[in-house]
Amino acid sequence: MLTVKKISKAFGPTRALIDVDMEIRRGEIRGLIGENGSGKSTLASIIAGAQFADSGSFELKGKPYAPRNMVGAQNHGVSMIIQEMGTIPGITVAANIFTGRLEEFTRFGFINMKAINRRAAELLQEIGAGDIHPETLINRLNFEERKIVEIARAMVANPDLLIVDETTTALAQRGRELLYRLIRRLHEENKSVLFISHDLHELMSICDTITVLRDGIVIDTLEKEEISVDRMRSLMVGRELSGSYFRSDYDGSYSDEVVLEAKRVTSGILEEFNLELHKGEILGVGGLSDCGMHELGRVLFGIDKPITGSVTLKKNNVQVKDPHVATKNNMAYVSKERDREAIILNASIKENVVLPSHRQLRKVLGLITRRSETNLTNKQIETLRIKCRNGKQICNELSGGNKQKVVFAKWLGKESDILILDCPTRGIDVGVKAAMYKLMTELKAQGKSIVMISEELPELIGMSDRILLLKNGRLQAELRRSPDISEKQIIQYII
Ligand SMILES: Nc1ncnc2c1ncn2[C@@H]1O[C@H](COP(=O)(O)OP(=O)(O)OP(=O)(O)O)[C@@H](O)[C@H]1O
Ligand SMILES: [Mg+2]
Repeated sequence: MLTVKKISKAFGPTRALIDVDMEIRRGEIRGLIGENGSGKSTLASIIAGAQFADSGSFELKGKPYAPRNMVGAQNHGVSMIIQEMGTIPGITVAANIFTGRLEEFTRFGFINMKAINRRAAELLQEIGAGDIHPETLINRLNFEERKIVEIARAMVANPDLLIVDETTTALAQRGRELLYRLIRRLHEENKSVLFISHDLHELMSICDTITVLRDGIVIDTLEKEEISVDRMRSLMVGRELSGSYFRSDYDGSYSDEVVLEAKRVTSGILEEFNLELHKGEILGVGGLSDCGMHELGRVLFGIDKPITGSVTLKKNNVQVKDPHVATKNNMAYVSKERDREAIILNASIKENVVLPSHRQLRKVLGLITRRSETNLTNKQIETLRIKCRNGKQICNELSGGNKQKVVFAKWLGKESDILILDCPTRGIDVGVKAAMYKLMTELKAQGKSIVMISEELPELIGMSDRILLLKNGRLQAELRRSPDISEKQIIQYII
């Protein structure tokens, strides 16, 4: 289907891709893996016409292929679902699906909205998302639904090669299944898929072959029978990673002291929800994406005001009315939607990292020294292995996973006592995931408290002292840390 010949790409001094060669066959589902910043998105976006290579060339279906933009690529049969949020706010679902293709529905200067809506409805139906209405304003949809709209957009031109850049981490179970079905369908139609993910188990179950990138270089391509989680891990990081990276202790102990309490909170889908977070506790919160767990995170940090009920900091009996109160009381929040809520993309890593830490950095005289800012930033870049030129680099230029690390760094630097983490390891590669889990364990040992909202069951089981499972805005079960908890058991409660 596609031959990639000696593709190279540099951003200033950063060499993102170096002489990449690759061949994807018809009907093949190819995985593409590598650590954060290894060049996966760059390669994908060049194939999909969103960026240009400095050198090298492509052949598609045996003919030279050099897309000038994404619509051009689509017309040749190549579509991509991009890693970051790719919908355009302020317009409808249908208009999003047909961005760049409106002229197909235009006659004598008039856009035939009816036809667009009809076609969009058909398309959504086809991919199994018939419940999303084409005329809805995109802003009304949640994170997952918007990602599904992007999937629909990628399917508009009936692609021969579909590129999926870390889409599943933005999707919960329903969306994932929708995407897996689509991928299987393409495979059956003898079309090809390039699938990027950090979830090695998912890759194993979906892909026929897997290509490994490290620092912009193709390290190897594994055939089906060579694929194993350990093999992928060691090829990606260039060394053996051994053992499990979750907590190894199972006593699940924490102090009796309650630090944060939510009482009869009603907000969004949440109904009369109660929660107690203890000092030194990692409290896992799990469920399907629309179970209310993301709302819970927002309410706990004061972003959303509950209709009834309250969230209280126990040490001083202060109500968390808004994020300002929260940050003043050493609370931190990592949002699932990092580009919208968690990071300032046009600012540097340093500016983002020091933003919430100003009080800590302020010296006796009330001055923040440049040096202490730089030291803090460098410390975080090192601990989390943020791949960048230096702390002055603008966050927009970082790879997806490295942006997520900046979000984490921002709140760690502040030395927060209570951390509300909503899908904290989304899009993070295996090596750094291990580092983040270790950090969380250390924070716990220091007596800090963490609410970890997660869609990843192994992470919930592996890290939590207690797990709250939600369904339709209500508590379904509370599980205590134990080596006996299984994913199957959890799924029973949340579906
Ligand atoms: N516009 C840009 N300006 C400067 N550097 C860039 C730009 N886009 C990407 N890079 C750099 O190129 C390298 C590869 O980035 P890329 O986004 O392809 O990584 P990735 O493998 O997709 O990582 P992730 O798993 O985190 O998504 C990184 O070092 C990144 O900082
Ligand atoms: Mg990427």
